[in-house]
Amino acid sequence: MSLPILISPSVLPCDFSKLGAEVEALDAAGVDLFQWDVMDGQFVPNLTFGPDVIASARQYTTKPFEAHLMVLTPDVLAARYVEAGCSRLIVHAEACPHLHRTLGNINSMGANAAVALNPHTPISAIEHVLDLVDMVLIMTVNPGFGGQSYIASMEPKIRELKALIERRGLADQVNIEVDGGIGPSTIEGAAAAGANVLIAGTALFRYSEGLKFAVSDLRAKATDARAKI
Ligand code: DX5
Repeated sequence: MSLPILISPSVLPCDFSKLGAEVEALDAAGVDLFQWDVMDGQFVPNLTFGPDVIASARQYTTKPFEAHLMVLTPDVLAARYVEAGCSRLIVHAEACPHLHRTLGNINSMGANAAVALNPHTPISAIEHVLDLVDMVLIMTVNPGFGGQSYIASMEPKIRELKALIERRGLADQVNIEVDGGIGPSTIEGAAAAGANVLIAGTALFRYSEGLKFAVSDLRAKATDARAKI
C-alpha cells in the first residue's frame, strides 16, 4: 500500500500581516498539512519565522504543522518548534554532524523526525537513518527562497530514494516529500518519480481560480501521475 498523496503549502508566500486569516484560507482550500520554512540566515541566506510566530498561527487550524528547519543549529531549536505545535521536524543532513542522534532526539520529544537533502547531497547520506524518520525531503531547489525554478534533475534522485525505501520494506512508513518549484507543470514529474508529499508555495497563489481549485488541481495531477507508474 503506497502512502497517500498529500498537498501542503509552504507558508513562505503568505501575507504575514494577516497570517491567521491566510492559514484559515489554506485550511478551507483543503490542504492536508502546513509546512513552515524556518530559516536562520546562516544555513541559508534568508531569515524567516521563530517558534512564537508558528505558535500564534496554531489556533487557526487543526491540521498538522511541520517545521522545515533550514538552520545550522537544529539541536538547539528543535524543542521550541515542537512546543509551538509542530508535529514533524525536518532537519537538513548537511547541518547535522550527528544526524542519527538529532533524529532520535526529535522522536524522543514525541514529534515525527524527517530529514532533508539539498540538491547536491546524495541519497547515501541518509541510508543509515531511514529507520528513524517518517519522511525524507528531496529539495528540488537550492533552499532559501520561494519562487525558484524546479530542478528536474532531482527526479532520478527521487526514484533512487523510492527504490531504497522499498528495498528496506519501509514503503508504508517513510514518505517522500519534494519542495521547491512545485506547480502544475512540475508536480506530475515529481509524483511519477515517487514523491507523495508535495510542497507548493508560489504556484498555489498563482492560480487565477483561487486556492481551493489550486489544491484540488495539484492533488489530481499528482494522483493521476502516480497512477500511471
Ligand atoms: C526553499 C523553500 C521553498 C518554499 C516553496 O527554501 O523551502 O521551496 O518552500 O517554494 P516555491 O515558491 O517554489 O513553491
